[in-house]
Amino acid sequence: MQATLSGKTALITGASSGIGAATARALSQLGASVILAARRTDRLEALAASLDRASTLALDVRDAAAVRGALESLDLDLVVCNAGLGVGVGPLQEGAPEAWDRMIDTNVKGVLHTLRATLPGLLRKGAGDVVLLGSVAGRQVYPGGNVYNATKHAVRAIYEALRLDAGSRGVRFTTVDPGMVETEFSVVRFGGDQAAADKVYAGMRPLDPEDVADAIAYAVTRPAHVNIGELVIWPTDQSSTRDVRRDA
Ligand SMILES: NC(=O)c1ccc[n+]([C@@H]2O[C@H](COP(=O)([O-])OP(=O)(O)OC[C@H]3O[C@@H](n4cnc5c(N)ncnc54)[C@H](OP(=O)(O)O)[C@@H]3O)[C@@H](O)[C@H]2O)c1
Repeated sequence: MQATLSGKTALITGASSGIGAATARALSQLGASVILAARRTDRLEALAASLDRASTLALDVRDAAAVRGALESLDLDLVVCNAGLGVGVGPLQEGAPEAWDRMIDTNVKGVLHTLRATLPGLLRKGAGDVVLLGSVAGRQVYPGGNVYNATKHAVRAIYEALRLDAGSRGVRFTTVDPGMVETEFSVVRFGGDQAAADKVYAGMRPLDPEDVADAIAYAVTRPAHVNIGELVIWPTDQSSTRDVRRDA
């Protein structure tokens, strides 16, 4: 078994918070050099200062030219496409097109730009890992989640497309699809409304970002001939995207 990631370089998008930051910590602890990418560079600098072999990259994954310019020349072994967000919850017929653009441009096109810039290098090496952060929302829709759900269904389709277009060439592809994880996700989704975000997790035990990072670390440390393809991780208190057990 490949015990550590020493000598490997990992790019993590959305490393300034939540699952991305926890993944950066986990991969760094396994010996990888980590490149932390996101828009909030102050957060990235603070995280990098606490890790070994960490560097930072100011990056908006929606900006195709910037992504290409920053990532194309990197020598990478692991790419974690994690940057993503939800904007609002509500009926489709009342939705805001600007919110749809933010979600589609980040969650779908941001992943595509990142892959377009990094995958050719991995394929040239004939080795490496691509990890996509999907969601259980890419498997089951829930009321009011329409466009976010659609973006995560798209991530799942991209994962399947990668296997067909670039599979069997030494690079492994993994989609990691968590249920509810307590991060800044809901604060962002509700435009900074902390009380609304807290309500999402009230009376239930969500996943911690470290739980998801642990699963990613598991997938990328299997022997080279083993590709963990799909990881669906639920909080024990959540039985579907619509059903959550909460304290009375
Ligand atoms: N939390 C959950 O319940 C949950 C469940 C399933 C899947 N997910 C998925 O997990 C991923 C991480 O979410 P999280 O829960 O860790 O949320 P989070 O704490 O809000 O972190 C989101 C990260 O994405 C980055 N990001 C957002 N827009 C970006 C952009 N345009 N360019 C570059 N980076 C951008 C943010 O960095 P900056 O703002 O600094 O750019 C931040 O680092 C997302 O893809 C999300 O859809 C989350």
